[in-house]
Amino acid sequence: MTRILGIETSCDETGVALVEDGRIVAARVATQEIHSRWGGVVPELASRLHLRTLTRMTIEIMRSSDWSFVSLDGVAATRGPGLIGALLVGSSFAKGLASALGIPYKGVNHLEGHLWASEAEGNPIPLPALALLVSGGHTELVRIDGIGDYHYLGGTLDDAAGEAFDKVGGLLGIAYPAGALLSDLANKGDEHRFRLPVAKAKSELDFSFSGLKTAAMRVIESLDIVKRNEWAPDFAASFQKAVIDQLLNRLTIALKRREYASLVLSGGVAANSMLRKKTERLATEFQIPVRIPSVEFCTDNGAMIAWIGNQYLEKDGGDSLTLPADPNLQLTGSVS
Ligand code: KG4
Ligand code: ZN
Repeated sequence: MTRILGIETSCDETGVALVEDGRIVAARVATQEIHSRWGGVVPELASRLHLRTLTRMTIEIMRSSDWSFVSLDGVAATRGPGLIGALLVGSSFAKGLASALGIPYKGVNHLEGHLWASEAEGNPIPLPALALLVSGGHTELVRIDGIGDYHYLGGTLDDAAGEAFDKVGGLLGIAYPAGALLSDLANKGDEHRFRLPVAKAKSELDFSFSGLKTAAMRVIESLDIVKRNEWAPDFAASFQKAVIDQLLNRLTIALKRREYASLVLSGGVAANSMLRKKTERLATEFQIPVRIPSVEFCTDNGAMIAWIGNQYLEKDGGDSLTLPADPNLQLTGSVS
C-alpha cells in the first residue's frame, strides 16, 4: 500500500489531497476570496493565506481519513509554474514534512497535474492524446505520449483564455475570478447579438486573445452602462462564443491530422459548460474518446498533484530537497 499526500499552492487555491495506491481517497480545496477585492491575485496576500491555511488543512484531511503521518510514503507538492511566494509555502512545507518523516519529497509540475486530472479521477487517457490545457495562466495544445513525454503543438501568443474571461468579466463588473460567473451570464444570453473577432495567429495551432479583449472593451464602451442588465447576458454569450470558437478551431485543425487516440480538455476553463459540450460534440464528430475532468478537478486542486506525484515517485523515487521551486517551469525537459 502506498500513501501520498499532495499539496497545491501555485496561485490562489490551497489544495490538499490523499492518494492511496494511485486512487484519490480525499481532496480539499480552499479558495482565497480576498483577491476579488483587487481584481486579480495579489501575490503577497496569496502566500500569507497559504501559510495560514495549509497546516490546518493538512491536519484536517489526515484526521478525516484516519491516516497517521507516519503511515505516509511520500509528499508531493507543486513546484511550478506559479507565484514564487505561494509555491515556496507549499513546497517548503512538503519538504519539511518529508524530511521530518524520513520519506521522499516529489516536486510536481502543475501543468502535468492538469493534463492527467481525468486519469487521476479514474478515467484512463488513451494515448497518444491531443490535450488542450486552458487555465488562468496557460492555453496550450499538447500531444501526450506518456507521463513526462509531451510534444508542444501550440499556445497563446499573449493572454491565456482564463485571463481573457477574467479581464472581460472585470469590464462587466464581475469580481475576480470572473470565468464561472461570466459563463453563467453567457448561458442566459444571445451569442449572435455582438460580433467579436476570432483571432488568427501566425501558426495555425497558436492562440491569441488580446485582440478579442480590446474589441470587447470597445464594444462595451459603445454601450449604455445604465442598460447593462439588458445587454450584459448577450455580450457575455458573444464573448464566450468568440473564445470557444477559437479553441475549437485549433482543436479541429489538430484532430484532422488523425494522429490521436483521445482528446483531453483540462484546466480551469475546462469547467465551462459550453466549452465542455462543444468539445464533446467535436470528439463525437471525429469519433475519438474524450476526457474532461469533473468540474472540481478542472480548477486547481491537490488531487491532481498527489496523483502525478505518486506516478513519478513510483517511477523515479524522490527528489532532492534542494530542488527549487520554479515560477516559470514549463512542460519541458519533456517538451520537444
Ligand atoms: O486552472 P485554474 O484553476 O488556475 C490556473 O492554473 O490558472 O484556472 C483558473 C481560471 C480562471 O481564469 C477562471 O476564471 C477560469 O479558470 N474559469 C472559467 C470557468 N471556471 C473557471 N472560465 C470560463 N468558464 C468557467 N466556467
Ligand atoms: Zn492550474
